[in-house]
Amino acid sequence: MLPSLRDPKARSEYPKELPVWLELDYFRRSRFLRTWRGGLSWGALALGVAVVAWLLGGTRDRRAFQAAPVSRVHRPINDDCLACHTRGFETAKRLWRNDAATHSVPDTACQQCHPGSIHHARELGETHCVSCHREHRGESLLAQLDQGTCTSCHADLTAHTASAKASDVERLIRNVSAFTTKGHPEFALWEAGAQDDGTVRFNHRKHLRPGGIPVGETRTMTVLACDRCHELDQGGRYMRPIDYSRHCRECHPLQTGLAGDFPDGPARQEWAVFVATPLQHPNRGETAASVRAELRERFTAFAQGHPEVLGLGLSAPPARPVPGARRPADEQRAEKEWAWVAEQLRRAEPPLFDSKAGCLYCHTETTKPSDRPGGLPAYAAPAIKERWLPHSVFKHETHRALDCEQCHAGASKSEQTSAVLMPRIAACQQCHKPDASAARADCAECHVYHNPVAERSWKGRFTIEQFFQGHAPPRNAAGSK
Ligand code: HEC
Ligand code: HEC
Ligand code: HEC
Ligand code: HEC
Ligand code: HEC
Ligand code: HEC
Ligand code: HEC
Ligand code: HEC
Ligand code: HEC
Ligand code: HEC
Repeated sequence: MLPSLRDPKARSEYPKELPVWLELDYFRRSRFLRTWRGGLSWGALALGVAVVAWLLGGTRDRRAFQAAPVSRVHRPINDDCLACHTRGFETAKRLWRNDAATHSVPDTACQQCHPGSIHHARELGETHCVSCHREHRGESLLAQLDQGTCTSCHADLTAHTASAKASDVERLIRNVSAFTTKGHPEFALWEAGAQDDGTVRFNHRKHLRPGGIPVGETRTMTVLACDRCHELDQGGRYMRPIDYSRHCRECHPLQTGLAGDFPDGPARQEWAVFVATPLQHPNRGETAASVRAELRERFTAFAQGHPEVLGLGLSAPPARPVPGARRPADEQRAEKEWAWVAEQLRRAEPPLFDSKAGCLYCHTETTKPSDRPGGLPAYAAPAIKERWLPHSVFKHETHRALDCEQCHAGASKSEQTSAVLMPRIAACQQCHKPDASAARADCAECHVYHNPVAERSWKGRFTIEQFFQGHAPPRNAAGSK
C-alpha cells in the first residue's frame, strides 16, 4: 500500500481491522450463484437438448457431431449417420471397460453394402470391420491400413490358425512381422526348388542379342525390346499371355508347300500366293487337327479353282449343272480331286509334324510318331504361367521407371525355358521399407485381405433413394432377393 493512503492513526498498515475486512461470516449469507446453481444447470441441459434436437430434426445438419467427415468413398452417405450407426454409440462402454474391441458400428451395418468376406477359412480370432477400416479421418484412405492390423495374427500365425479346418493352401505356416529381411520370408517359389514348367521352347539370349537378330524378308538386324513379346494388360498390372500370332508368327511363320509342276499362267500365280501365305497356328483349345483342316480346305479350294491340275483336260466346272443329274464326268472329277488333295496332304504334313523345323521347333510331342491317333500328333500343353506370385498383388506400371532386369535379373542371358526369372524379395526390399523415406511397406500394399472371389459377387439390392438413406430395405422390396 502506498504510504500516502495509510491511516496515520491506525495500528495496522491496513485500512481496516482484519476481522472487519475479512467478513468472517461470509458463508452464512445468501449468495446469488449458490441459489441459482441447480436452476442454471437444468437450464443449460435443456438448452443443450434443444440444440441437439434442432440440429438433428430441424436443420438435418448432423455434421456438427462428427470429428471429421467420413472417408472420400463414403461421402454420399456422410450425412446419414444411421447408415453406419445402426446402434447407440458405445463410447462410454468402451472407456468404462477400457476395451478397444467394443465398437459402436457393427459389421452388419457395413455388410448392408459390402459383403466384406472373410480372409481365410482357417483364421482364428475376432475381427471387426471398423478395427481395420477407420472412419471420420477426412481424406485418409479407408483401405490403407497399418500393418498392425495384419501382424496381430501373422506375427504368430500358429496361434491364429485353426488346424482342424480344411485349407485352400497347403503350405508351411510362416510368421511375418514386417517387410524386412528378418520379418518377411523369401517368396515360397524360391524355396521349393524353383522351376518354370512351361513347355514351349524359348531361348531369351538368342532373341535378345545386343547386335540384334534378322527380321522380315529383308532380314534387317533388329534389337528386340522386352515389350516386343511382353505387353502389359489393360490394368497395367501383369504381362499379357504370350501369343503365337502376336509374338512369334512374324519371324517363325508356319509355311507349307504345294507339290506339282505349274506351268506359267493363273495356276502358277496362285501357287506363288499359296506358298507365301502361312498357315494359322492353333488357337486356344485347338489342336493339330485345326492345321490339317485348314490344309485340306486350302488344297480343295485350289483344285476347284484350277481343275487343270487334276490332269483331266477340264478347264472349269460346267456352267449350269442339271439339278439332280449325276454325270460320270462329275464323279470322276470328285474322285480325282479327293485323290489329289490326299496326296498333297500326305506330302505337306511331315515337314510340319515330323521335321525339327515344324511344330517341333517349339513344341514337345506327347504322342509316339509311330502311334498317333488319327495320324495326328499331340503336343504338351504350353503351361506358360500367367501369375507367378498369386498370394500377392503387383503392378508393373507403377515400376515403369526401372529396367526390367533390375527385377528379372539375367533374363536376357537366360537360355532355357525351365529357368525362373522372377525377382527375389531382396530386390523389393531396396525400396519398400518400413520407414518414412521409402516406398510403402505396409502389408496391404502387396496383399489383398478379403477373399477376392466372394467379394466380387453382386448382391446389391438398394434403389438409389434407399442408398442415400443408407437403410437396408426389407428383403425382396427392391426387386431382387
Ligand atoms: C460410413 C459409415 C459412417 C457414417 C455415415 C457415419 N459414421 Fe460416425 N463412425 C463410423 C465409424 C466406423 C466409427 C468408429 C466406431 C468405432 O470404432 O467403434 C464412428 C464413430 C463416430 C463417433 C465417435 C463415437 C464412438 O463411439 O466411437 C461419433 C460421435 C460419430 N461417429 C458421429 C457420426 C455422425 C454424427 C454421423 C452423421 C453425420 C456419422 N458419424 C456418420 C462410421 C460412420
Ligand atoms: C450405404 C452403403 C454403404 C455402407 C453402409 C458402407 N459403405 Fe463402404 N462403400 C460404399 C460405396 C458405394 C463405396 C465405393 C465403391 C466400392 O469401393 O465398393 C464404398 C467403399 C468402401 C471401401 C473401399 C475404400 C477404397 O478406398 O477403395 C471400404 C474399405 C469400405 N467401403 C468399408 C466400409 C465399412 C467398414 C463400412 C461400415 C462402417 C461401410 N463401408 C459402410 C457404400 C457403403
Ligand atoms: C484385418 C483387417 C480387415 C478387416 C477386419 C476388414 N477388412 Fe476390409 N479390407 C482390408 C484390406 C487390407 C483391404 C484392401 C485390400 C483388399 O482389397 O483386400 C480391404 C478392402 C475392403 C474393401 C474394398 C475392397 C474392394 O474390392 O472394393 C471393402 C468394401 C471392405 N474391405 C469391407 C470390409 C467389411 C464390410 C468388413 C467387415 C465385415 C471388413 N472389410 C473387414 C482389411 C480388413
Ligand atoms: C484373424 C487372424 C488374421 C488376420 C487379422 C490376418 N490374417 Fe492373413 N491369414 C490368416 C490365416 C489363418 C491364414 C492361413 C494360414 C495358412 O493356412 O497357411 C492367413 C493367410 C494369409 C496369406 C497367405 C495365404 C493366402 O491365402 O494368400 C496372406 C498373404 C495374408 N494372410 C495376408 C494378410 C494381410 C495382408 C492381413 C492384414 C490386412 C492379414 N493377413 C490379416 C489369419 C489372419
Ligand atoms: C521374342 C519374344 C520375347 C522377348 C523379346 C522377351 N521374352 Fe520373356 N518370355 C518369352 C516367352 C515365349 C516366355 C515363356 C517361356 C519361358 O518361360 O521361357 C517368356 C517368359 C518370361 C518370363 C517369365 C518366365 C520365368 O521363368 O520367369 C519373364 C520374367 C520374362 N520372360 C522376362 C523377359 C525380359 C525381362 C525380357 C527383356 C530383357 C524378355 N522377357 C524378352 C518371350 C520373350
Ligand atoms: C523378331 C523376330 C523373332 C521373333 C518375334 C521370335 N523369334 Fe524365335 N528366333 C528368331 C531368330 C532370328 C532365331 C534364330 C536365332 C539363332 O539361332 O541364333 C530364332 C530362334 C528361335 C528358336 C530356336 C532357338 C534355339 O535354341 O536354337 C526357337 C525355339 C524360337 N525362336 C521360338 C520363338 C518363339 C516361341 C517366339 C514367340 C514367343 C519367337 N521365337 C519369336 C527370331 C524371332
Ligand atoms: C515359333 C514357335 C511355335 C511353333 C513353330 C508352333 N507353335 Fe504352337 N505354340 C507356340 C506358343 C508360343 C504357344 C502358346 C501361346 C499360344 O497359344 O498362342 C503355342 C501353343 C500351341 C497349342 C496350344 C493351344 C492352347 O490350347 O493353348 C497347340 C495345340 C499348338 N501350339 C500346336 C502347334 C502346332 C500343331 C504347330 C505346328 C503346325 C505349332 N504349334 C507350331 C509356339 C509355336
Ligand atoms: C519392380 C520389379 C519388376 C520390374 C521392374 C518388372 N517386373 Fe515383371 N514381374 C515382377 C513381379 C513381382 C512379377 C510377378 C507378378 C505375379 O504374377 O504375381 C512379375 C511378372 C512378370 C512376368 C510373368 C507374367 C506376369 O505378369 O505375372 C513377365 C513376363 C514379366 N514380369 C516381364 C517383365 C518385363 C518385360 C518387364 C519390363 C518391361 C518387367 N517385367 C519389369 C516384378 C517386376
Ligand atoms: C512389397 C511387397 C510386399 C509387402 C509390403 C509385404 N509382402 Fe508379403 N509377400 C509378398 C510377395 C510377393 C509374396 C509371395 C506371394 C506368393 O508366393 O504367391 C509374399 C508372401 C507373403 C505370405 C505367404 C508366405 C508363405 O507362406 O508363402 C504372407 C503370409 C505374407 N506375405 C504376409 C505379409 C504381411 C503380414 C505383410 C506386412 C507385414 C507383408 N506380407 C508385406 C510381397 C509383400
Ligand atoms: C526402385 C524402387 C522400387 C523397387 C525395386 C520396387 N518397388 Fe514397388 N513401388 C515403388 C514405388 C515408388 C511405388 C509407388 C509408391 C508407393 O506406393 O509407396 C511402388 C509401389 C508398389 C506396389 C503398389 C502398386 C500400385 O500402384 O498399386 C506394389 C504392389 C509393389 N510396389 C510391389 C513391389 C514388389 C513385389 C517389388 C519387388 C519385386 C517392388 N515393388 C520393387 C518402388 C519400388
